[in-house]
Amino acid sequence: MGIGDHHHWHSSSYVDDWIDGATSHDEQRRPVLHQAARLLPFAAEAPVRVLDLGSGYGEFSAQVLGLFPRASVCLADYSVPMLERAKQRLVGFGDRVEFRVCDLRDPAWTTQVGGVFDAVVSSLTIHNLGEPVAIRRAFVDVAGLLCPGGCFFDLDLVLDARFAPATSALGELYARGAPSHHFGPDTDEHHHELDPNVVVPTLEDHLCWLREAGFVEVDCVWKQFSEVFLCGFRSS
Ligand SMILES: C[S@@+](CC[C@H](N)C(=O)[O-])C[C@H]1O[C@@H](n2cnc3c(N)ncnc32)[C@H](O)[C@@H]1O
Repeated sequence: MGIGDHHHWHSSSYVDDWIDGATSHDEQRRPVLHQAARLLPFAAEAPVRVLDLGSGYGEFSAQVLGLFPRASVCLADYSVPMLERAKQRLVGFGDRVEFRVCDLRDPAWTTQVGGVFDAVVSSLTIHNLGEPVAIRRAFVDVAGLLCPGGCFFDLDLVLDARFAPATSALGELYARGAPSHHFGPDTDEHHHELDPNVVVPTLEDHLCWLREAGFVEVDCVWKQFSEVFLCGFRSS
């Protein structure tokens, strides 16, 4: 089993259960998504176009739409049940939202969403792609969809020291660390189900791949255990 492989995103009942779990953590995850959306480098009234990758039921999109009243958001996800839930949830935003069913592992996805975008945001999705080669490819694809100066905000999970030997100082520290659950219900699930032989990218891998993809300013601006908020900016 690889990281993310235990999900069944095409199953309506699985998606309903996942959303129930996610919304039960709203108190923790909403402020993180809100804060990330607030950091988008746009004037309040800017008519920007944003892509939410692996949007799920649309929580990150809702934060962007609420903060930037003239923004429009394209929600992209390969799960039809997730996008159905997002459509219901965001109905009040009218034609400021559009929905695209696409698989980020399929090279055609970039044409399916139709660029360009001022920003691409994503939460808890990229690690689902599993293989490092797929993540690197996705970063290149995202860079290609952004306008000059555009940014990519990626809130996700990376390999952490829980994979270090339990006897190591960091492995022991992570074992003692409380579950954080800022981003969603499955944050810690990975660590119990992951095959120790699977290759899971580290934070350093992610930062390096963002630079390789063409982002000129790259950073991890927030990290708590395995949860990270990565930023990449294209040159203007
Ligand atoms: C953990 S959920 C996160 C949903 C949402 N971003 C949030 O934070 O609430 C991961 C999402 O990524 C989507 N996803 C996973 N792999 C995908 C792929 N290869 N292409 C498109 N979407 C994918 C799933 O369908 C699911 O909606």
